[in-house]
Amino acid sequence: MMSSDAPREGERLQKYLARCGVASRRACEEYITAGRVSINDVVSTELGVRVVEGRDVVTVDGVVVTPPREHVYYVLHKPAGYVTTLDDPESRATVAELFPQDGRRLFTVGRLDRDTTGLLLLTDDGEFANRLMHPRYHVSKSYVARVTGTPGESDLARLRRGVELDDGPTRPAEVERLVNGAGWTDVRITISEGRKRQVRRMFSHIHHPVMRLHRECFGPVTLGTLAEGAVRPLEESEVRALLESATDDGGA
Ligand code: URA
Repeated sequence: MMSSDAPREGERLQKYLARCGVASRRACEEYITAGRVSINDVVSTELGVRVVEGRDVVTVDGVVVTPPREHVYYVLHKPAGYVTTLDDPESRATVAELFPQDGRRLFTVGRLDRDTTGLLLLTDDGEFANRLMHPRYHVSKSYVARVTGTPGESDLARLRRGVELDDGPTRPAEVERLVNGAGWTDVRITISEGRKRQVRRMFSHIHHPVMRLHRECFGPVTLGTLAEGAVRPLEESEVRALLESATDDGGA
């Protein structure tokens, strides 16, 4: 049905057609006046008519046209035991199993090791994923690492300054001792790189290897109360804040 009773609802037909990728707005106006466009099976030659996405079915030369789908952005509370790939040649359990399959091709924003738990971002927006992972932007990620023994203040200071790993020195990190028990200490560490097994390698370097690793935050996004194994869509404000954190001066 057209929106004659609510004239401001929806958008102008030619604009909608252009958004669907039919042609330029000007060319779409010509399609309309030529009688090639129907709304809900009724030919519409009027330029001013409005349509509502998801309610009105619009066809051009008898073919239904729809706007491109908006991108999706998710946060997953990854449990241990799942590999961060969407298709594993070795048939191991993957994070893809934790998502409803709706035909979209999802990308993970970086990786967590199989035994690491916590916050993992997934999206079908490849450009967004690449941007957040680009080494130039230094988006921060916070982890709680349970490490063996009790690292001393001087060990933690080394991690803060940066340590020399096989693939080069690490950038300065924030490091905070949380609690310790018999033979272990929990340490919160915030790094602004995403090198492979970086946190584990940093703690091995100071001879306090990681026993358990959990990611709490990725840039401005936190897990909050999301249960292990659960997924939630990111708020629009979170998507915006993530993009802002990946700017030239965002996270340096
Ligand atoms: N650093 C690691 O060592 N492992 C992870 O899974 C993430 C960061």
